[in-house]
Amino acid sequence: MKKILYVCVLSVIASAFSSAAASAVTPDGGAIFTRSCSVCHSVNPPPKSAPPVVPLANRYHLRFQTKAQGVAAITAFLKKPDRNRAVDQQAVTRFGLMPVIPLTDAERAAVSGWFWDQYNPSMGGGRGVGGGQRRLMNQ
Ligand code: HEC
Repeated sequence: MKKILYVCVLSVIASAFSSAAASAVTPDGGAIFTRSCSVCHSVNPPPKSAPPVVPLANRYHLRFQTKAQGVAAITAFLKKPDRNRAVDQQAVTRFGLMPVIPLTDAERAAVSGWFWDQYNPSMGGGRGVGGGQRRLMNQ
């Protein structure tokens, strides 16, 4: 009986390790957002202490042509938040510059991909940005 219990405990430990290993290979961007970003960012307006994700994603879609370019820009911002590279400079004035969030490169890439995918063209970029500029947003 004791032995069976021991085997059970071992297999639970083993499966915990293998799922940790799997998530290290492909981190889940949405889960990272919930864990590391949602304390400040809501997904939809109204804002918490930072601009909501969907209008920000829309701005990234206005600024960048491809997902690769957009994700690279978000990843670079996460690594080193920089007012001059922010797509929403008014947000820096309003909320203050975002702090660096400690993440691995793989986590930054995953959460940036998730961020880009939150794009919702029916919602606009907030405060009328993009009006009079290029109106067609890329997918
Ligand atoms: C402590 C609060 C806080 C946390 C946590 C936080 N952010 Fe931010 N974030 C901000 C603030 C404030 C701004 C607006 C000012 C700025 O752009 O620096 C911002 C802006 C941004 C921008 C827009 C930058 C631009 O180009 O204008 C992105 C993208 C972003 N955050 C992504 C994330 C992601 C992804 C996470 C989680 C890994 C995260 N943030 C966690 C506060 C936070």
